[in-house]
Amino acid sequence: MSKKALEFAAKNQGKALAELKEFLRIPSISTLPDHAEDVRKAAVFLADELKRIGLENVRLIETSGHPLVYGDWLGAPGKSTVLCYGHYDVQPPDPLDEWLSPPFEPVERNGNIYARGAVDDKGQLWMQVKALEALFQEYGGKLPVNVRVLCEGEEEVGGEGIAEYVQQHPDALKADVALVCDTEMFEPELPTLCVGLRGMIYTEIEVRGAKTDLHSGIYGGAAPNPFVALAQIIAGLKDADDHIRIPGFYDDIQPPTEDELAAWKRLPFDEEHYRQTEVGSPELIGEKGYSVIERVSARPTLDVHGMPGGFTGAGAKTVIPAKALAKVSMRLVPNMTSAGAYEKYAAYVQQIAPRGVTVETRLIHSGEPVVIGTDNPFVQKAVNAMHEIWQKDTVFVRGGGSIPIVGEFERHLKVPVILMGFGLPDDNLHAPNEKFHIANFYRGIDSIILFLESCGA
Ligand code: BES
Ligand code: MN
Ligand code: MN
Repeated sequence: MSKKALEFAAKNQGKALAELKEFLRIPSISTLPDHAEDVRKAAVFLADELKRIGLENVRLIETSGHPLVYGDWLGAPGKSTVLCYGHYDVQPPDPLDEWLSPPFEPVERNGNIYARGAVDDKGQLWMQVKALEALFQEYGGKLPVNVRVLCEGEEEVGGEGIAEYVQQHPDALKADVALVCDTEMFEPELPTLCVGLRGMIYTEIEVRGAKTDLHSGIYGGAAPNPFVALAQIIAGLKDADDHIRIPGFYDDIQPPTEDELAAWKRLPFDEEHYRQTEVGSPELIGEKGYSVIERVSARPTLDVHGMPGGFTGAGAKTVIPAKALAKVSMRLVPNMTSAGAYEKYAAYVQQIAPRGVTVETRLIHSGEPVVIGTDNPFVQKAVNAMHEIWQKDTVFVRGGGSIPIVGEFERHLKVPVILMGFGLPDDNLHAPNEKFHIANFYRGIDSIILFLESCGA
């Protein structure tokens, strides 16, 4: 049982890591139009490897944005089909000067591999590919279970292309379970299944004042300043207790169950350690009356990501900018909907807009929140597989992040989703010096081998 596959994986660890480095060298930044060719290059790199290890029907599927990569092996009649998902796009690497080594030149330090995408999600996607390769080796070019692989190159920008594809072609993706490797462990050595994800709406607020930029000495006192107006709007979105002031925003929330709350209380969590080592701010903020774990996974939030515009160069320029922009997102929890949240938000922004300016809000992308059921046999298979490798019982946590396609898999394919991830809390996702703990890369491959094999049993 899997012995040969595990042996193959163990023997080929160095090779797997070297291949991952090659994958990481491709700057597949989905949000930057200048990198569209790199995104495609990563898709081709992945497709070539899927073909090489033995998958069939491997192809790129074009979408309105970046391509999907598909492959399958369906030669085990009567056995379950696992739909393996990952994303090969990455977030922009900036701020570049905070990286200790360049983001697209992967290096090993202290048992970690550092690069943009190391853990989110190229490294975790590669674990699945290497697990499949090892199983193909053990079973003489076959697999002990049916497999479809579907990867996307625009998860980090909302995943519109894959959502459309899944909605339109559910029959081409028939499966019994989906395996998603794109989340984190609660702490090192603690196998974790993610049983919820927040949804999100990512928006822009654009404020316009005068018809053109103006000299602030000549016109200051009469011309409205869009940045001041924007700051007033943003300041109005939350109160001093970090409560979101958008009317009705919290109305639809379904609170966690007593069982969930009790389980979260039992998780090993030291708030002060978390503040110091993970966040590194003088104090933690957030809604009163909710624990940190609740605040970062089961409560909605609102954040500002940047305010482009005006003069931001070195030195000074006395100008009243004609317009100001803010990028604002909100994380949503069950049973909020992205459409409902956006409608309430957009109306409230207009309501609190100060005089003298026009304000426009735009929805850039959105995804729905999900809670994932644990009463299906695949959860137990995942728990068993991870126990075999980590020698520990799995904890169930909700992830604070979003993976828009997970909800679509549940809704349109009607499959349970297993979110088995091997990132660590200090892996710096989306931040400078992103890393993946190399031991987790290897143990992740082993865990996936055992899980896939048990799905065919
Ligand atoms: N892999 C993350 C999401 C994640 C991270 C979930 C850790 C749970 C734990 C994913 O790549 C991500 O970053 N998603 C974006 C989605 C958004 C841009 C639509 C996010 O959450 O910001
Ligand atoms: Mn990811
Ligand atoms: Mn991400």
